[in-house]
Amino acid sequence: DKAGYKHFMAKEIAEQPTVLADALRGYLEDDRISLPGEELDFTKVERLTLVACGTAFYACLTAKYWFEQLARMPVEVDVASEFRYREPPITPGTVALFVSQSGETADTLAALRYCRDKADKIVSVVNVAESSIARESDLALPIHAGVEVGVASTKAFTCQLNVLLLLALKAAVDRGHMTQEALSETLSALRALPGILNAAMARSDDIERVARQIAEARDVLFLGRGLMYPLALEGALKLKEISYIHAEAYASGELKHGPIALIDKTVPVVVLAPRDALFDKSVSNMQEVMARGGKVLLITDAAGAAEAGQDVWQTIVLPAVPSVLSPLLYAIPAQLLAYHTAIAKGTDVDQPRNLAKSVTVE
Ligand code: M6R
Repeated sequence: DKAGYKHFMAKEIAEQPTVLADALRGYLEDDRISLPGEELDFTKVERLTLVACGTAFYACLTAKYWFEQLARMPVEVDVASEFRYREPPITPGTVALFVSQSGETADTLAALRYCRDKADKIVSVVNVAESSIARESDLALPIHAGVEVGVASTKAFTCQLNVLLLLALKAAVDRGHMTQEALSETLSALRALPGILNAAMARSDDIERVARQIAEARDVLFLGRGLMYPLALEGALKLKEISYIHAEAYASGELKHGPIALIDKTVPVVVLAPRDALFDKSVSNMQEVMARGGKVLLITDAAGAAEAGQDVWQTIVLPAVPSVLSPLLYAIPAQLLAYHTAIAKGTDVDQPRNLAKSVTVE
């Protein structure tokens, strides 16, 4: 049931504020993070290995930044199809964590089985609670996104991010890198996030206008730094998946190591850059793009828009949020941009060609 929306994808994008608020309630007892099922004590964990495919992999990549920054934990991230055949050594003290919406992705399940007798603990972050990946884990953490029908993952991504962030915050507190006071502050920002996501949804018409022009492009680049780098990858995946436009993402600092050769006036460059500690660096990368005739679509907050200069082609302004929460917010315009571009191109948004919702064969 599309509940009045034209596509499941539009419905699932719009549901995010509600499902995130519900999901959060499932993990909080007052201002304490409490995991459903068995407790996970991060003081005993030496290393985390995160494994997934596609969008779930980008959620893992985001989590690496969170675990490293907040909890000072060593984290490895890999795509399941590489991980399983590389057969990496898993040393004692490792928790292996698998992220999957369906819980049935063949490569992710095989990677989990590879870790079975090697890791201290197998944890999964899943949407489908009765899935193989959930069943075969020591601890399965539900993301509470509800059924996701659109092949392009949207609400599952933000709900995966939500659980991964809560885990990183718990690790930070367990390991003495975060005070209860700082945790309470972040949790209240997280509780306020659904309202802020609704404000971002209200940019949908602006995004639709830009999307009509993006739909003319043959190639689109996405750039981001820090937490915005995995999100740039996710934005590019979403766009190529449903609009069939060739899209690539790079860490902004990699631009001058090759991709800048692609820039000309036909290549829109989407820059994801809230006004955070890395913003000045992103601005200088943007200037390099604009100096070569590239058209920059800047997604930022009001402070970022004010500082970005006049030459930016288009700007989408989002509310300002604490840096740590920016991936959850910036996912919304990335999804809406892909959605509206696909609509402008007339592609099948919910059932893109060549793709299946659940990849149960390798
Ligand atoms: O069910 P899973 O989360 O394990 O699926 C992983 C990928 O196949 C999935 O995220 C895919 O990349 C999506 N179609 C992206 O929108």
